Amino acid sequence: MNRLPGKVAIVTGAAQGMGAAHARRLVAEGAKVLVTDVNAAAGEALAAELGDNARFLRLDVTSEAGWAEAVALAEQAFGPVSVLVANAGITGSNVSTVDMSLAEFEKVCAINQTAVFLGIKSVVSSMLRAGGGSIVNISSISGIVSIYGTPNPAYAASKFAVRGITKFAAMEYAPHKIRVNSVHPGYIRTPMMTATLNPEQIVLASGNVPMHRVGEPDEVSSLIVFLASDESAFITGTEHIIDGGLTAQ
Ligand SMILES: NC(=O)c1ccc[n+]([C@@H]2O[C@H](COP(=O)([O-])OP(=O)(O)OC[C@H]3O[C@@H](n4cnc5c(N)ncnc54)[C@H](O)[C@@H]3O)[C@@H](O)[C@H]2O)c1
Repeated sequence: MNRLPGKVAIVTGAAQGMGAAHARRLVAEGAKVLVTDVNAAAGEALAAELGDNARFLRLDVTSEAGWAEAVALAEQAFGPVSVLVANAGITGSNVSTVDMSLAEFEKVCAINQTAVFLGIKSVVSSMLRAGGGSIVNISSISGIVSIYGTPNPAYAASKFAVRGITKFAAMEYAPHKIRVNSVHPGYIRTPMMTATLNPEQIVLASGNVPMHRVGEPDEVSSLIVFLASDESAFITGTEHIIDGGLTAQ
C-alpha cells in the first residue's frame, strides 16, 4: 500500500502502544517517520526495525528546544515535515480532585496539553515549506465526555484542552493547507491500559462498550493514516471518536 507517498512525519510517544503502531503503519504506507519518545531503548529498537524510512530521536514533548531539534532532524534526514502525530500522553494517578497534588496536575497538563501547543508551534514553519500538512492531536473520549474511569481531573482537563487548541489552529492554518484534527480513542489495549486497569477491570470496561470489546492500537492507526493522507484533504478542525460506540449511548 502506498497512501502516504512523499510524506515526512513526526510521531511522539512512539516507543510503545498506539504511537508505535502509528509509526509502523505510516512507514508501511510510504511515509518517512521520525520516531520520538523519552524511552530511548524502545524507540531506537522500533526505528531499527523500520529501517531506512525511520529515525529515532529522544524527545521529551515538554521541551521547546527538543521540538526544534526534532523538526531540524526530520528536515535534514527526510525533508520538510508534512505530518505530526502528537500522541505522547500520561494518565497520572487514579485520584480524586481533592487528593491530586498541584505538582501532578501540572505535570499531566504539561505532557498532554502544553506539549500539543509546542508541537503545533514547532512544526508550522516546516509544514509551510512542505506546502501544507496534517497535524493529528491525540485526545481521548475523556476529552469529549466526563466518563467513569477517567483517572483524575488533570487527564480530563488536558484532553478537553486538546480539542480547543486543535480547533483554534485549524482556523489559523486552513488557508495555508495545514489541517489540524483531534482523535479521541476509547479503551485501547496498550501498555497504558494494562498499567491502569487490571484484567477484571478490562472485562468490566468492555462490557460497557456496545461492541463488547476494547480496541486494538492498529485500529486507531487506520484512522491516523486517513487523517495524515490527502484522502482527508477537506477535513480540518474536527473530532474523530474511535470507541466501539461507547460515547454514542
Ligand atoms: N490506551 C487507551 O485506552 C487510551 C485511550 C484514550 C486516549 N489515549 C491516549 O493515546 C495516547 C497514547 O496512549 P497509549 O495508550 O499508547 O500510551 P502508552 O503509555 O502505552 O504510550 C505512551 C508513550 O508516551 C511516552 N511519553 C510519556 N511521556 C512523554 C514525554 N514527556 N515525552 C515524550 N514521550 C512521552 C511514553 O514513554 C510511551 O512510550 C496518549 O495520549 C493517551 O492519553 C489512550
